[in-house]
Amino acid sequence: MPAAEGDRDYLVGLHPRLAPVFEDMLAQGRAEGIPIVDPLSGRLLQTLVAALKPRLVVEVGTAIGFSTLWMATVLPEGGRIQTIDPDRKRTERARTFWRRAGVEERIEVINEPGLTALSRLEVGIDFAFVDALKTEYAGYLELLLPRMRPGGVIAADNLLWSGRVAAGLEDENTAALRAFNQRFVTDPRLHATIVPVGDGIGIGVMRNP
Ligand SMILES: C[S@@+](CC[C@H](N)C(=O)[O-])C[C@H]1O[C@@H](n2cnc3c(N)ncnc32)[C@H](O)[C@@H]1O
Repeated sequence: MPAAEGDRDYLVGLHPRLAPVFEDMLAQGRAEGIPIVDPLSGRLLQTLVAALKPRLVVEVGTAIGFSTLWMATVLPEGGRIQTIDPDRKRTERARTFWRRAGVEERIEVINEPGLTALSRLEVGIDFAFVDALKTEYAGYLELLLPRMRPGGVIAADNLLWSGRVAAGLEDENTAALRAFNQRFVTDPRLHATIVPVGDGIGIGVMRNP
């Protein structure tokens, strides 16, 4: 069962206060209804990137760059992020935040639909984060898997979809996520699980070929 609200509040309060740039992104995202990751999910992404030290991170779904920033702050020397989002207005706003945080140079934006952009990428991704169209998650996964380095990690957000997946709702996004989850945790190419942090994050590690 996902952490109770009290547990969530406790964990949010346990960590040091967010830096002002993160607070501003969060406030703008919430005020404008831009869906960005829960700060606890951001911290999980940051911890994974700090542990894995990826040379190349690929993100599908940039918005105003909140999840990108969590990852960019702990990239190893020479590490970079390619982040994909067709919405240029949002990614231009993301750039201003990244510049403010001093990480702009580590991030390349690709303003194309995820399926188009991923199909052009070469093999060599160390860490991927999926957070765009829910009905395309299975397609992103199929394009990412052959492009990952051995031992690479694929993470995906919203896999619990605010309780709708477990509740068995049948709208298009929920059905797509339910099918994706089944596939993600049983794909023979991955060691994968889904953790109930934020809105549910899938983490899959590439098995050795
Ligand atoms: C949930 S938001 C991303 C939030 C971001 N990862 C964060 O936590 O800060 C989803 C983003 O996917 C973008 N998007 C929409 N269609 C897309 C597509 N076909 N390919 C990639 N991204 C797409 C939207 O413009 C939106 O900004």
